[in-house]
Amino acid sequence: MKAAGEKIAMLTSYDFTLASLVDEAGIDMLLVGDSASNVVCGNQYTLPITMDEMIFLTKGVVRGAQHALVVCDMPFGSYQISEEEAVRNAIRILKESGCDAVKLEGGEEILPAIRHMIQAGVPVMGHLGLTPQSVNQFGGYGLRAKENAEAEKLMHDAKLLDQAGCFSIVLEKIPADLAEKVTKAVSCPVIGIGAGNGTDGQVLVLHDMLGLNQGFKPKFLRHFAQLAENVKTAVGEYVAAVKDSSFPSAEESY
Ligand code: KIV
Repeated sequence: MKAAGEKIAMLTSYDFTLASLVDEAGIDMLLVGDSASNVVCGNQYTLPITMDEMIFLTKGVVRGAQHALVVCDMPFGSYQISEEEAVRNAIRILKESGCDAVKLEGGEEILPAIRHMIQAGVPVMGHLGLTPQSVNQFGGYGLRAKENAEAEKLMHDAKLLDQAGCFSIVLEKIPADLAEKVTKAVSCPVIGIGAGNGTDGQVLVLHDMLGLNQGFKPKFLRHFAQLAENVKTAVGEYVAAVKDSSFPSAEESY
């Protein structure tokens, strides 16, 4: 698709029902993001989600995906301790969830783990720029790689990930011109989020783009629906119908 100039559309997904709908609508890749920690579990950060929780969610998404390639995020702590542990966890994710690939955050510092995974037959997607598992080092979720030194390191890391055999790289919340330069400099497809229009594809968090997450509206996010309003209206109507005994009707009863 990169070679053909066809843009790649990716969304996150965390359950069978929505994965089935998103897959049917023509998505190319589904990411079971560790953003599940925020979206599904209500945590402030991605850090608390576990291997067992990621595998549980990914199983449902895999069952719902008939066409899309399914990628599972490796949770914080599952690949940083040692290369051996990283490979063991990556293999466990593939074996137990049935997904196609894993994604992990970082560049040169996790390159040995990435190399071992790829050697073991695990397809790996990289993730550079704003890497939310490092929020405590970054001190927030601001734009990354604005300064030359960080931009140069990001370009260097992207080339290393590409050479190591990553099948794709996510670039999150970095200047659009840098994302475009990186996209041209590497052979694998680059998927952007908050990284402008010069990448090979885009990814968004499903609940954000559907307008389910009302409080979150960063500049890079477009709401393609306003489902929070629909859900509240439907539930309000259901509550009223139960309270005034109009639900269930005779036709809805056995
Ligand atoms: O966890 C996630 O949802 C992600 C995307 C934002 C790329 O990593």
